[in-house]
Amino acid sequence: MKHAAVLGTGSSMPKRVLTNADLEQMVETSDEWITSRTGIQTRRIAGEGEQTHLLAARAAEKALLMAKISAEEIDLIVVATITPHKIMPSCACFVQSEIGATKAFAFDLNAACSGFLYGLDLADKYILNRPDMKILLIGAENLSARVNWKDRNTCILFGDGAGACVLSSKKDGAGIIDSNLFSDGTLWQLLHMDSPQSLNPDLVEEIIDDSYILMSGKDVFKHAVRAMEDAIKGLLKRHGLSTSDIALMIPHQANIRILNKLVNRLGMPQENVYINVDRYGNTSAASIPIAIDEANRQGKINKGDLLLFCSFGGGFTWGSLLMQW
Ligand code: UT7
Repeated sequence: MKHAAVLGTGSSMPKRVLTNADLEQMVETSDEWITSRTGIQTRRIAGEGEQTHLLAARAAEKALLMAKISAEEIDLIVVATITPHKIMPSCACFVQSEIGATKAFAFDLNAACSGFLYGLDLADKYILNRPDMKILLIGAENLSARVNWKDRNTCILFGDGAGACVLSSKKDGAGIIDSNLFSDGTLWQLLHMDSPQSLNPDLVEEIIDDSYILMSGKDVFKHAVRAMEDAIKGLLKRHGLSTSDIALMIPHQANIRILNKLVNRLGMPQENVYINVDRYGNTSAASIPIAIDEANRQGKINKGDLLLFCSFGGGFTWGSLLMQW
């Protein structure tokens, strides 16, 4: 059986850097509070020419270049995002047009911070069916456009960016091994964001703009640690593996305290976990592919390495995925 393997990676970050000192001028907070509670020091904020689809397209171009594949050879484009610049057409269709992937079909995937993991699983299913297929999977977000900059509980956490992988089958045995994915819609209220206008204006007396990210941080924190731990342990057990078999874990980057707790419970060496939440904050669906691209370009991933991915986000959605590089 042929599985989806990574042929190339890319990422694109907005130029503007927002520091904790900048946030001290905007809401009642401090660098000390943000750093000690989240590990975040800076995040990137999209500006002119850096909307979701444009960040996504720039990340995709870099991944194609590394994969030595032209945009015209791509069969499918999937963009994992909760912040497309338009609801319709999809961000993926804009990327298709932007990079000239003329024969691809294209659609978006919404699984919040787990979007890229769900996308890897989806790509694997397409490639199992058609091993020569070439898939461009992107995670891209413009969360700063949907953050309430007056709410110190959330505005310090999120950032913008995009990461991409070109996927197809390889002859050397590399590829996705298995995944362990979950959702629980009953807990949606703990982390959510409305559409800008989710009701017909003729039917309501007042439009309440509830379109910001709303989160019950403490609850999300508790669920995130437990859920990712279970998803990882279940997946490793299924394959008779332990954390010592993992060359590198690339988790969704939400909060350094969540990651430290998770890593302690798993008994993993800290140096085998890729972390960039300090520089980019939480970029939702973009966080895993940005981290993959950085780790790859820094030479932290080698051929044959066993990689472990995990995520947790709105929905709730969560899971883990194993891949041989
Ligand atoms: O991708 C998945 C999505 N999200 C997450 O994974 C986030 C999960 N949650 C978290 O990361 C953490 O819960 C937060 C970083 C959001 C908050 O940390 P916490 O340790 O859970 O703090 P808290 O919400 O319990 O707040 C503690 C105190 C409160 O003050 P009082 O009520 O004790 O007086 C807050 O009002 O800290 C206050 N506070 C702040 N103070 C300074 C909340 N935000 C801030 C802030 N600066 N930015």
